[in-house]
Amino acid sequence: MDGNGRWAKQRGKIRVMGHKVGVESVQEIVRTARELGIKVLTLYAFSTENWKRPAMEVQALMGLLKSYLESELANMVENNVSLRCIGQQQRIPPEVVKVLDRVIAETANNDGLILNLALSYGSRNEIIQAVQALAAECLQGKIRPEAINDQALADHLYTAGQPDPDLLIRTGGEARLSNFLLWQASYAELYFTETLWPDFRKDAFLTAIIDFQQRQRRFGRTGEQVTGAE
Ligand code: FPP
Repeated sequence: MDGNGRWAKQRGKIRVMGHKVGVESVQEIVRTARELGIKVLTLYAFSTENWKRPAMEVQALMGLLKSYLESELANMVENNVSLRCIGQQQRIPPEVVKVLDRVIAETANNDGLILNLALSYGSRNEIIQAVQALAAECLQGKIRPEAINDQALADHLYTAGQPDPDLLIRTGGEARLSNFLLWQASYAELYFTETLWPDFRKDAFLTAIIDFQQRQRRFGRTGEQVTGAE
């Protein structure tokens, strides 16, 4: 969800104002995902690297997150949305974790849309944690090293049990993955747009999805194999 800071700067406002309007985009994109019947939506709200930002900005982001969760709980329940959190929850301020845990618990049985919030999330760290857990299981004799395969590793990631993403959208003109779902996005279609996150609304989301629908997903096979032309 890149581009909040620039959006604010272009309007002579402080960066936090961009994040604030960015929350409106979050609301619109979640609503649209639900309308479209999308099964899983993961929002990269705060990376492990984002802790390096000025304390005032970090504090404002945590505050926005807390108020978003408080105000959206009823909506999530009503719209069958199940909230999950991926990332290092132990680094999030306790007052935010309290609300987060409550929303996660109260929406746990919903099965319309899984909404993953990536908070204090870093993909390399997630993979290292999974590898450590597998190594420990090997040492305890629970599994043999040869039994470690794609599935075993995926089962130890925060996203265990969820399908891999089909489409990864990055706003704000950057063409990087920035430590986001590196394992899970191996075969995801990447979509980069110049649109800044606060301007990324329903129409922009639909444009990205239509672009995705026109891609041919080959997963290593030839185009002819996929279309059945051969
Ligand atoms: C990156 O843009 C954006 C973030 C680090 C924060 C994203 C947070 C929100 C949209 C609001 C809170 C989230 C939820 C789920 C309620 P940037 O600040 O790096 O923008 P820039 O590249 O223009 O500087």
